[in-house]
Amino acid sequence: MISIIVHGGAWDIPDDAVESHYKGVEHALDVGWKILKLGGNAVDAVEQAVQIMENNETFDAGYGSHLNQLGEVELDASIMDGKTIRCGAVAAVHHIKNPITLARKIMDESEHILLVGNGAEQYAKEHGITICESTELVTQRERDRWETLRTKKEFKTKDAFKKLVRPSDTVGVVALDQYGNICTGTSTGGTPNKYPGRVGDSPLIGCGTYADNEVGGVSTTGWGEAMIKVVMAKTVIDLMEMNGSNPQKAAERGIEILHRKADGFGGVIALNKQGGFGIAFNTPRMARAYMNIDMNKPFIAV
Ligand code: GLY
Repeated sequence: MISIIVHGGAWDIPDDAVESHYKGVEHALDVGWKILKLGGNAVDAVEQAVQIMENNETFDAGYGSHLNQLGEVELDASIMDGKTIRCGAVAAVHHIKNPITLARKIMDESEHILLVGNGAEQYAKEHGITICESTELVTQRERDRWETLRTKKEFKTKDAFKKLVRPSDTVGVVALDQYGNICTGTSTGGTPNKYPGRVGDSPLIGCGTYADNEVGGVSTTGWGEAMIKVVMAKTVIDLMEMNGSNPQKAAERGIEILHRKADGFGGVIALNKQGGFGIAFNTPRMARAYMNIDMNKPFIAV
């Protein structure tokens, strides 16, 4: 069984952005699927599929991410290999076009798991990962959004998921390869107008990302502060392990816990070790797509 599931954010995606989200997750799924189909491994499929969405200005990851209070893009990402439970993560980087690739480099070559800010960028330079100008990651759409938000004194991160504004949020991929290995990756620009140095759930292993070949893989999207409180990704993994490996039930229960305990909003994708899918969200929309060897064509929806 080879299998892959992708998300491109759970939020109040406006009508005029539905098509770009649909095409964006379709493209990422296609790239990851082709790698798996050709016998490639889950880590490569996840890294490449996340990169596609980081390079697509539609999503709040890489190019086109939300700006922090200083008007800067500040990026977080993580990746986890379920075969070894090795993982790598970066947070609060400003000059990295594809944070998922830096996270993978840390997973593959560093003794550490999470590097932040200047240290993460120094590691990137020392390991041949391209450094870009921070301005190269900024789009006019986000510059305009930032101008609007910073005049709204009442705006808080939490409100970002309560329809006051319409943020996009985070991308993620979980893949199962033909060798039975599961990998999960998640990448984000975080919440709009966030305090500089704020880190959400996405680079935190167990909160935004988790993978374990014995159970499955999970990636989350949504209001990071709430996701962290309920250790969302590992919670859904544990639910899957307890419920006989039903990813849909685990995802739904995870979102119920998120909302009940932390007043949180967002979405989750889950894949079990048999290649079965779970998706749940409590936002108006979520960009999502999946494909496995039993399907004639991919499922894609926003
Ligand atoms: N879920 C992404 C963030 O809150 O940063």
